[in-house]
Amino acid sequence: MDVRVRHQEFYQEYLISMIPYGRHSINNDDIAAVIAALKSDWLTTGPLVEAFELGLEKVVKAPCISVSSGTAALHCAYAAIGLKPGDEVITPPITFVATQATAALFGATIVFADISLDTANVDPDAVAAAITSRTKAIVAVDYAGHPADLDKLRAIADRHGIYLIEDAAHSLGSTYKGREVGSIADITTFSFFPTKNLTTGEGGAISSIHPELLERAKKFSRQGLVRNPDEFKITDQGPWHQEVHEFGLNYRLPDILCALGLTQLERLQDFKSKKRSIFNTYMRELRSVEGVSLPIERSDVNVNWHLFPARFDPSLRETVFSGLRKAGIGVQVNYIPAYWHPVFQNRGFRRGMYPNSDLFYSQEISLPMYSDLNEKEIDLVVKNVKALI
Ligand SMILES: Cc1ncc(COP(=O)(O)O)c(C=O)c1O
Repeated sequence: MDVRVRHQEFYQEYLISMIPYGRHSINNDDIAAVIAALKSDWLTTGPLVEAFELGLEKVVKAPCISVSSGTAALHCAYAAIGLKPGDEVITPPITFVATQATAALFGATIVFADISLDTANVDPDAVAAAITSRTKAIVAVDYAGHPADLDKLRAIADRHGIYLIEDAAHSLGSTYKGREVGSIADITTFSFFPTKNLTTGEGGAISSIHPELLERAKKFSRQGLVRNPDEFKITDQGPWHQEVHEFGLNYRLPDILCALGLTQLERLQDFKSKKRSIFNTYMRELRSVEGVSLPIERSDVNVNWHLFPARFDPSLRETVFSGLRKAGIGVQVNYIPAYWHPVFQNRGFRRGMYPNSDLFYSQEISLPMYSDLNEKEIDLVVKNVKALI
């Protein structure tokens, strides 16, 4: 079938589907908090921004700043490390392309390292093999919420004197060897898009264990404005003065959305335990079904599951995907390997270069996973999966 027709059908079905693959959970406290913010004196940067950032800091155990999306967070992280043309960043193909796009926009060269097939996270051996004298950073992605192999990646980064950045768009609330995601890499980035582990509508955050990197990220996200008189290079102006040393953008997250973020933060553990219970139900119900491979959780992590990535035989994947869609179950495929995008094909990348990523992509379907998914709905998903294979 023509790809355009297939695409159209996909979206028609998506819109009418009763059960999406991911969904926010908004309660009366969330609504009341946003209304209160709307009635306050502050719509954009007010007291709730700092309150939300401090709330995040308590969860991730490292200082945080809020920004307007996960993409903005990545862009700020790359600005903070001073990424420039000629630098290389090593990233996995199985991620949303924002991981690479925001680095490419600084003129950096994107280098791919293949994934480990169990977690779909970047394989440290592949990372080690991809290091050159131009490598500036390793960028790990915590796919589905499962933290990457952070100690091994840290050892490689330290050996070469380069940065470890963690794209934790999926993994707020997960832990690695008992440590909170956000407190481990040099810089960690988060997304608060509605399907993610908590939402502010659009939104994101950056945490860092290095105050100077967080400060640079913050400056970039706030138009590069310097307001501290001790740092001024222009010293003959009045009390109104502020100045710019390096260009930045406006990536601020407004008070209205931080109000939502604050109430959502209070619910993070509840979201996590509900999704854990959904995860366990899928595992129990699908474990013995031939033809389905289930996600794994390594023994040294505790995952806040953002996705439930099931895997099917590649010859069955589209049948199962379309069958579930027809049954009103809004599954998704996460992700097309980033290097397949035409923007990378134009730069010489060709399918087949990262075989584990290609295999994973050919098998993967994300089953519905969000805290308000009820037992009847899980049952419907399980029954349909069983019937389709
Ligand atoms: C791994 C990953 N990185 C970055 C992003 C970008 O986040 P946002 O949509 O908030 O810009 C996403 C969101 O889909 C993601 O899944």
